[in-house]
Amino acid sequence: MNIFVTGGNGFIGSNFIRYWHSNFQEDKIINLDKLTYAGNKLNLLDFEKDKRIELIKGDISDQKLVKNILEKNNPTFVINFAAESHVDRSIIYPEQFINTNILGTFKLIEVVKNYFSSLSNTQKDNFRFLHISTDEVYGSLEKNNQPFKETNKYFPNSPYSASKAGSDHIVRSFNKTYKLPTLISNCSNNYGPYQSMEKLIPLTIYNSLNHKSIPIYGNGLQVRDWIYVKDHCEALKKILFNGEPGDVYNIGSSKELKNIDVVRKICSILDLIVPINKNKSYSELISFVEDRPGHDYRYAINSNKIKEKLGWEPETSFQEGIESTIKWYLNNNNWIQRATGKAFKDWINLQYSE
Ligand code: NAD
Ligand code: TYD
Repeated sequence: MNIFVTGGNGFIGSNFIRYWHSNFQEDKIINLDKLTYAGNKLNLLDFEKDKRIELIKGDISDQKLVKNILEKNNPTFVINFAAESHVDRSIIYPEQFINTNILGTFKLIEVVKNYFSSLSNTQKDNFRFLHISTDEVYGSLEKNNQPFKETNKYFPNSPYSASKAGSDHIVRSFNKTYKLPTLISNCSNNYGPYQSMEKLIPLTIYNSLNHKSIPIYGNGLQVRDWIYVKDHCEALKKILFNGEPGDVYNIGSSKELKNIDVVRKICSILDLIVPINKNKSYSELISFVEDRPGHDYRYAINSNKIKEKLGWEPETSFQEGIESTIKWYLNNNNWIQRATGKAFKDWINLQYSE
């Protein structure tokens, strides 16, 4: 079958395409990506000549282009990863988030709805539109609050999470109003290979290796539930094949960690693999900087629904996942060189210059 992925050159999208390519060897994957600063051609470079993966450079808002792609390829699954995804950028450039995440999702799903209505009954039964969303739509938890369930109210606090919340509502409405077989997944913080260098884990590795200071926002006590990206991809597969159309699934690893502990863990692994010297630890590079405005204190996910209904379990412990992630970045210096080009440097200068 054919599957249509949007945002496949980003972090999770490229991991998903790799995962699907190696697990479903009969399938063709069509990838529509705008190749923004976050969409890295290098993420899928080894597939450049592979006929099973086709990259089309373009915008999910381009309805004519999306219509042509759908009509030409007749996909069974549409999986929407395309988004502006960096909370810090959303604080400075909120409009881009509204344009891509809200308007873009609407424009995409509107064309998908028309395509769906043209399918035969059997094709309709198999068709799914999976929208990839985030736990951040639920807002921030206090220390003793229960982890987010699918039934929690939405309380987004950043322009990023508000725009994702908006997109989730649009997708839901297309299921309720037009009976489009949609699925929504709300996942916690991912980590792994090919993540944008601006995000906490790759940035900490990069700064450590370059002996630059490692910025921790505020007191570093904020809590995130970190999931290894491959476990997320497995969950998405289960949702596509066995999820109930119209349903929402939360995905997390139930491994809550404070930011400062994540950073210290990375430093301690680097101390073992690539020590600076016997008397100095990478953790000495940690520097507490001004907090992010509206910084959510804690995210935690209750994944019981996907575990019980779809038999999914995360398989990668944080120790295993973070070690293999660090080793991946250490072994992929070429990728890091490209991923820390102009857009990254401009961003870092904007962030940390007075
Ligand atoms: P990313 O920023 O690494 O990748 C986003 C991709 O979308 C890029 O390749 C970019 O070029 C592309 N894109 C952006 N605007 C586009 C447009 N208008 N048309 C077509 N392509 C466009 O993001 P990611 O971390 O891979 O996240 C993917 C999805 O998963 C997002 O929807 C995000 O909200 C969601 N999510 C991310 C995390 C996380 O921890 N990274 C957690 C939960 C959910
Ligand atoms: P990030 O990777 O940007 O993901 P999100 O904001 O979507 O959770 O950040 C993860 C956490 O790390 C978040 O609490 C903000 C914090 N953080 C820092 O303390 N320093 C940094 O340099 C970055 C990028 C993030």
